[in-house]
Amino acid sequence: MLAAELESLGAKRLRQDRGGVRFMAALDEILKVCVHSRIAMRVLYPMGTFTSEGADGLYEAAHGVPWEEWLTPKTTFSVDATLKNSEHDHSGFVALKLKDGIVDRLREKLGSRPDVDSRDPVFRIVAHLSGKSLTLSLDLCGDPLFMRGTKQAQTIAPLKETVAAAMLQAAGYAGDEPLADPMCGSGTIITEAGAIATRRAPGVSRGFALERWPQFSIAARPLLDDLRREARAAQRPAPHPLLASDYDVDALTATTRNVASAGLKDFVRIEEADVLHAPPPEGPPGLLITNPPYGERLGSGGQKGMKSFFYGLGTSLANWHGWRMALLAGNPAFESAFHRKPSKRTALWNGAIECELLQYQARAAPAAPTPPTTPAAE
Ligand SMILES: C[S@@+](CC[C@H](N)C(=O)[O-])C[C@H]1O[C@@H](n2cnc3c(N)ncnc32)[C@H](O)[C@@H]1O
Repeated sequence: MLAAELESLGAKRLRQDRGGVRFMAALDEILKVCVHSRIAMRVLYPMGTFTSEGADGLYEAAHGVPWEEWLTPKTTFSVDATLKNSEHDHSGFVALKLKDGIVDRLREKLGSRPDVDSRDPVFRIVAHLSGKSLTLSLDLCGDPLFMRGTKQAQTIAPLKETVAAAMLQAAGYAGDEPLADPMCGSGTIITEAGAIATRRAPGVSRGFALERWPQFSIAARPLLDDLRREARAAQRPAPHPLLASDYDVDALTATTRNVASAGLKDFVRIEEADVLHAPPPEGPPGLLITNPPYGERLGSGGQKGMKSFFYGLGTSLANWHGWRMALLAGNPAFESAFHRKPSKRTALWNGAIECELLQYQARAAPAAPTPPTTPAAE
């Protein structure tokens, strides 16, 4: 899905890797991806891939990279490490060893070193260590891209905006049909759908790390100003209604705040409703897309309670005639308890939870019974 999105944004020489997509781009093309990608979590500039063994291997790899071409003694930095099948147990230890190599290199080359700032660094250095293969990259965005710069309030299990956007893309939502999320939580799906329907670019209200980089700031700022101006000019009113509902009042408060801060309050209806008992919305049908509870914090009723909830959900949603549906299932019992056969399934990770987006075709309303015919008189 990310590769398809990047291609639509004009990225060239795409290569899909596990967990990422590589592409070639000039600065203006990178900025376009930063402003317009709804699915990417980060945009990284790889500085090198190394074979690294032991703590010394980490230090040597980091010490060998020409960081002085990017960082200066005044540009703060941080190092984030993620590990897979590694001899090391702690990502913090790996990040520390890498930081030592970076700092020593910069001190040797520049005479002094920049400070570490883990909260708001100018340069975020991202390390992926898979087995002995270490890749070091600069993060061009800073805060991950799921942070659209508009979320005000959260509930217990919010989706990341990037996951909601991937769900909408997998469901083929282009903003040109009615949409409903009857278990909206903090409203992540509805605000992402609203952004698609109103053609709002996801990165239009936030900044990117490279705007603060000495090498890029002068060139990047006017390019970004142009991209943001063009993106704002392309906005339109949502052509069809969006409906968010939940039975939890705190969730509705969070959704109301998030919808308002995303500039979507004129296009989203927010209602308190129990999806197990409420009738479908009035008006023409469209796409129902939602993220039901998985039961990962099972309270009273346990897994048995979840199964009966999924069964009730299937029964209630059977009344939504004409609506096609996409439900993010994160509980293995969902599919059979929901008692309908999906027409399509897409694997999606919601954080650490392996999920499937199950899609169901629209069902027609049952035909009204035909009145008995009176025999014609002879
Ligand atoms: C996993 S959360 C949804 C999170 C949401 N996608 C977000 O990003 O914030 C599931 C939501 O379903 C709601 N819910 C559970 N049972 C419900 C019911 N019977 N009717 C309406 N909402 C319900 C919960 O209140 C919760 O907000």
